[in-house]
Amino acid sequence: MTVSAKPKAQYLKDYTAPNFSIEHTELTFDLQPLNTKVTALLTLKRTTNQNSALVLDGIDLQLVELQVDNVAYTNYKIEGEHLFINDLPHTCQLKIVTEISPDTNTSLEGLYLSGGAYCTQCEAQGFRKITYFLDRPDVLSTYDVTIIADKSFKHLLSNGNQIDSGETADGRHFAKWQDPFKKPSYLFALVAGDFDVLKDTYTTKSGREIELALFVDKGNLSKTPHAINSLKKAMHWDETRFNLEYDLDIYMIVAVDFFNMGAMENKGLNVFNSKCVLANQETATDKDYHTIESIVGHEYFHNWTGNRVTCRDWFQLSLKEGLTVFRDQEFSSDLGSRALNRIDAVKVMRTHQFSEDAGPMAHPIRPEKVIEMNNFYTVTVYDKGAEVIRMMHTLLGEVNFQKGMQLYFERHDGQAVTCDDFVAAMSDASGIDLTQFKRWYSQSGTPRLNATQHYDHDKQLYTLTIEQSAPLNQPDNKSLHIPFAIELLDENGQSIALTYQGEKRDHVLNVTAPTQTFYFDQIPARPVAVLLEDFSAPCILSQQNSEPDLLHIMRFARSDFSRWDAQQQLFINAVKQAVNAPEHATLSENVINALRVLISAQSGDLALVAELIKLPSFDTFAAEFDIIPVDEIITITRLFEQQIAEQLSDELLHCYSSLVDDGSINADAVAIRALKGVCLHYLAKTPSEQVDRFIKKSADSPNMTNVLASLSAVVKASHPLRTTLLDHFDSQWRHDVLVMDKWFALQAMQSGDDAIENIKALYAHPSFDFSNPNRVRALVGSFSHFNTAQFHRKDGEGYALLGDLLIKLNAINPQNASRMLTPFMSWKRFDTTRAQAMKAQLQRLANLEGLSADLFEKVEKALN
Ligand code: TRP
Ligand code: ZN
Repeated sequence: MTVSAKPKAQYLKDYTAPNFSIEHTELTFDLQPLNTKVTALLTLKRTTNQNSALVLDGIDLQLVELQVDNVAYTNYKIEGEHLFINDLPHTCQLKIVTEISPDTNTSLEGLYLSGGAYCTQCEAQGFRKITYFLDRPDVLSTYDVTIIADKSFKHLLSNGNQIDSGETADGRHFAKWQDPFKKPSYLFALVAGDFDVLKDTYTTKSGREIELALFVDKGNLSKTPHAINSLKKAMHWDETRFNLEYDLDIYMIVAVDFFNMGAMENKGLNVFNSKCVLANQETATDKDYHTIESIVGHEYFHNWTGNRVTCRDWFQLSLKEGLTVFRDQEFSSDLGSRALNRIDAVKVMRTHQFSEDAGPMAHPIRPEKVIEMNNFYTVTVYDKGAEVIRMMHTLLGEVNFQKGMQLYFERHDGQAVTCDDFVAAMSDASGIDLTQFKRWYSQSGTPRLNATQHYDHDKQLYTLTIEQSAPLNQPDNKSLHIPFAIELLDENGQSIALTYQGEKRDHVLNVTAPTQTFYFDQIPARPVAVLLEDFSAPCILSQQNSEPDLLHIMRFARSDFSRWDAQQQLFINAVKQAVNAPEHATLSENVINALRVLISAQSGDLALVAELIKLPSFDTFAAEFDIIPVDEIITITRLFEQQIAEQLSDELLHCYSSLVDDGSINADAVAIRALKGVCLHYLAKTPSEQVDRFIKKSADSPNMTNVLASLSAVVKASHPLRTTLLDHFDSQWRHDVLVMDKWFALQAMQSGDDAIENIKALYAHPSFDFSNPNRVRALVGSFSHFNTAQFHRKDGEGYALLGDLLIKLNAINPQNASRMLTPFMSWKRFDTTRAQAMKAQLQRLANLEGLSADLFEKVEKALN
């Protein structure tokens, strides 16, 4: 599609129900790399009285045959991406035979060959690349699927239960699957390949035994136990916390190397990006372990929130994704550290989501206008969507929230519904009015909050005034219902009971008006207020707390999240001050001393200590400025890190050498590795014989977390050992592409002026492959997101590298191209030189012959 062909937008307001239902779908696949024959037998029923045409979706299909009730039918036409069939009876059997070419399908959407196996990806609109269909989520059908393939494709898999298998006359083999649950086409899946299989079972709380099977590339069995354990934990957790049990008799997961996203929740047959499944101590970091557990959980939780109850249309995507992210966050928090999970989630919000919401792609969690649906699998729909669910949970409380979930399933099991239906269930079950709250679904941009505090010693009265204002890019927004949580600390760090005129007050304030004042009495001395505790709403709060107050909060807040938040604010304030007055580019003695205490005490949750002593990311600082002072932030954070490394080197050395992890993946060992990793990051900035020994030893560890901590420390510090260690890693891990992704990412972060030449040279590395999204993101994604100095070079060479790549990817995999484009979306937030250079790359794309709809939508928005 070229820009001149202008891809058309779809609007939420134009929704109409389908004119046919597809009661049952029978599919037969005759698998061949270049011409797979797909036979579809659809049982159709008109849903209206008019004799309107049936309009089926189809892309890149060769129509071979079309029959109605077993008779050849010619009353149809194909126009662009639609097949119009006229004058169909009220009910009929429609047979459609098409041919497709999985081997040449590099888009990783529809049916494609990936590393020798066939697999499908149908969400959002990939099913139309497999056969002509009503490819929309409100058309629910039962499926019978027959797969025929050469015997070298040992496993033939689809959704539901296998009901038949055997040999064909011509020496190939087949398997037949039946899915008893009605589902939309986006949940269809087929996999055919030769895998190693890890089998297990899970007994549900009602006593049903479920067969579990994890399919991986040959030789990878040693990397499967963690994923299967995560699955069993997820199944148990959903029974305990949400009272939800698995429904089919078998649950399968397949790991593939070529995949656009993390994973896909196809009914009974999840397909996963191999990097979100495979892990052992030698090859995966503690962070990888955590990600795998959360994604396995996420896809499993979709079985109820997404599959049993699905979306009416794609504008409702947050109905399943926001809710399921909330559920996976709760899963991780119940099983691990709630504070650390909250910190991770809020980092995503404040960096990626806030910047999306402030830029040209800003959209409400329920978008109203879409050109390419794949562009709306965003941090807004997913993560802000989860924050909106979390706010409802805060307003209702766990008991009412669970009542709401129960009512939602009672009303809508087996249906395709809207976000309104979900909120109605929550409101009806709890009796809480969510009318104003629902604005969160239709307003985009990040609300700004201003808090003014006053303390009257004579009246022992503390007053908090909260003002909400619409985001700058969405000035017409109306006031939102914001749950604003607080804690008041006395001078000893004790939590103060909240009362007013003899009555207890809840710590969650209901902010609903543009300006609102809250009163608390019987407070004998000026309190220190923890505001927006636990990030109780996805807002920007302008903080006016003084340094002593922030230090007080960091020490005493009951919420570990808010302690971290205060520490972040201390760093942010210091950077802002230094940007305004470069001669003050030093951290105050109080801040340094607070860090000293944290590092020396080595008490409490060490993983939290690790987070507390880390400087915020470039993106976190950048979010504080309208025009991002790139060079200043880079210089100042480098100076601060150097200052910490030098002034606290004794404490860091002592901390590093006194902590020993037992090599396991239990929480204590993970925490120790995390803290030692941060210590090493600082220590690498003050080289000594002792530090060099630590670095080498860590790089030699049998544990990938330690290895990576060492390599990342030397790369970021431009430490002399980096070349030797990187080369050694390359020769050690060349056989394992997933591990090589870590190496590509390290290479991309090298700060020297030859960084870009280095990346271009790595395009020729035997492990690199432009058609594999994991490789591309590891090398170029890491460069554009984390190598700030080189990506944002003033000569524009960093931008040109990304521009060249996008042109290449546009032809291979538009979905991946579009995700890689993201850094250019905020070009207006940079100084003129940089902004113009980024804009020039966007214009290059706009003029590109054959620009995909995915890139078109974003490029056009960015340039207007
Ligand atoms: N629904 C999937 C999830 O959130 C993600 C998904 C959407 C996806 N579109 C995709 C995965 C395309 C792979 C490719 O879990
Ligand atoms: Zn999901």
